[in-house]
Amino acid sequence: MAIACIGLAVAASAVGCASETAEPTSQPMLAALGAESYQQYCASCHGPEGRGDGPAAAALRERPADLTRIAARRGGEFPDAEIATYIDGRFELSAHGTREMPIWGEQLGESLAEGVHPDEVVRGRILTLVEYLKSIQRSE
Ligand code: HEC
Repeated sequence: MAIACIGLAVAASAVGCASETAEPTSQPMLAALGAESYQQYCASCHGPEGRGDGPAAAALRERPADLTRIAARRGGEFPDAEIATYIDGRFELSAHGTREMPIWGEQLGESLAEGVHPDEVVRGRILTLVEYLKSIQRSE
């Protein structure tokens, strides 16, 4: 079954396979797209490998999160929806004081061609970023 799952994950979706493994799974093609966006938009703060050590990190009040340990911080669970909502930022109520993370739901929808529906583009970009983050999780 595990071997069949690898093929399925590459094809279209890992639904049905994801729950069988303890490690968060990812969709390689989406993750590859997300990797590009990550280097463009996120690496300055979170570091080239997601460890929270980007060149802009020193100027922040709060240290950017180590994004390779999102699941480790949550007992091994990678909460897709929570992370997507967090990255988007438009639907966060500022209960935790000021946010140093940019509101990506606004930033990623800017300067788009006419006729493009920003929400679809924003959702797509955030989806690929989430898949990329899932692919770089480590447990140690
Ligand atoms: C200006 C610096 C900066 C940039 C750029 C940035 N972040 Fe962050 N990020 C932070 C900081 C600081 C935190 C810690 C919480 C806070 O202060 O908002 C954080 C927290 C996070 C978290 C929460 C982790 C957790 O375990 O809850 C995620 C996910 C995240 N960032 C993803 C991203 C992604 C994806 C991008 C690129 C689209 C990005 N960040 C770009 C500064 C940044």
